[in-house]
Amino acid sequence: LRVALVFGGRSSEHSISCATAGGVLEAIDRSRYEVIPVGITRDGAFVLEQDDPSRFALDATRLPEVVDNGTRIQWPDSVSSRELTVTEARGAAPRSLGAIDVVFPILHGPYGEDGTIQGLFELLGLPYVGSGVLASALGMDKHFTKTVLEKAGIAVAPWQTVTAQQWASSASSVTASAEALGLPVFVKPARAGSSVGVTKVSAWDELPAAIDIALHEDSRILIESAIVGREVECGVLSGRGGAAPRVSVAGEIVMTAREFYDFEAKYLDAPGVDLVCPASLTDDELSRMQELAARAFTAIDGAGLARVDFFLTPSGEFVINEINTMPGFTPISMFPKCWIASGVSYPALIDELLALALE
Ligand code: DAL
Ligand code: MG
Repeated sequence: LRVALVFGGRSSEHSISCATAGGVLEAIDRSRYEVIPVGITRDGAFVLEQDDPSRFALDATRLPEVVDNGTRIQWPDSVSSRELTVTEARGAAPRSLGAIDVVFPILHGPYGEDGTIQGLFELLGLPYVGSGVLASALGMDKHFTKTVLEKAGIAVAPWQTVTAQQWASSASSVTASAEALGLPVFVKPARAGSSVGVTKVSAWDELPAAIDIALHEDSRILIESAIVGREVECGVLSGRGGAAPRVSVAGEIVMTAREFYDFEAKYLDAPGVDLVCPASLTDDELSRMQELAARAFTAIDGAGLARVDFFLTPSGEFVINEINTMPGFTPISMFPKCWIASGVSYPALIDELLALALE
C-alpha cells in the first residue's frame, strides 16, 4: 500500500507532529507500505519531505520542524484520481509520485486535527486515518467537546467560555463569573493542544495574564475548575463501520513535583512527571472508564483513534477532561504506551490504523 504520511502543519503543535512522524517512519513495516512523507511547513506549504526518521527525532534542545525545501506537493485534481505529484523546483515539470491508497494525517491542533484537512480528503475521496470532519472539529474545540459530552450525560469539569470580545469589553463581569468556579482554575485556549497556552491560576490576580496567554492561541478560551483527582487516560480504536470501539487499558500521569502536565513535561523531558502504564485501577474502575471512553468517542462521532483523558476523583467518579482525535504518537507518548500495555505493539498499531482507514 502506498501511504501519504502528512505531518508538521500550521498549528503550535507543529514539532510534536514531526516527532510523531519520526516515530512512524521508523516503525512502519516497509515490506507492506511504501511511504510518501508529505510535510506541511508552519506557513502551510505542502512539501515532499525526506524519508528520514532521524531528522524528526524529539530532541529537547531542538524541536523538529518541516522547512520549505522548495518542493511542492499537489493533491489529485479530481475524485477519480489518487495520484500525488511533486514539483521539485520552481518552474520544473511536476513528477508523479503514483496513486496513493491512504492518507495518514498525523497532525495536531488547528488545520490538522480540527476537520479542515479532513474536509480536503473528503472532497478528494481519499481514504484517511482518523476521525471525520465533525468529530475532528468537536474534539479540537474544548467548549464544544464539553457541551456534547455533558448532553450525553458524561461528567466534565465546570467551566466558563470567554471570547476575546467579552474579555475586552467586560473584564470585571468575566472575572466575577470565573470567581464562582472557585480556585484553582485552569485557563485554556478553546482550540489548542499539548497544553500550549494553558495556565493554572491559584490566585485571582493571576487571571488576566493567564487569559492573555490563552487568547494568544485562540479568540475563545475556557476557564475551568481544577478537578482534584488522578489523571488517567486510555486509547480508543474504531473503524467507520459502526462496530463498538475498542478501548485500551489505562495509563496514568503521576505528578511528582510539578503543578501540571505541561508542554515541558510532555515533550522536553522536564522532571516531576511520570507516565505509568498500565495504571493501577480496580477492575471495576477500569471497566467504567473504558465504557465511558467508548461512549464519549461515540458521542462526538469519532472514528479511527482517540485518546480520552480523565480525572478519577477521590470519590471514584470519572470526569472527562478532553478527547484528542489525533493524540501524540511519539514512541514516548501515552497513546501507544496504552496500546502496548494492551498487547498491541507500536508497528501493529500503525497497521491497525491504516486498516481501519480502509475499512
Ligand atoms: N495534543 C497532543 C499531541 C496529544 O493529545 O497528545
Ligand atoms: Mg489535547
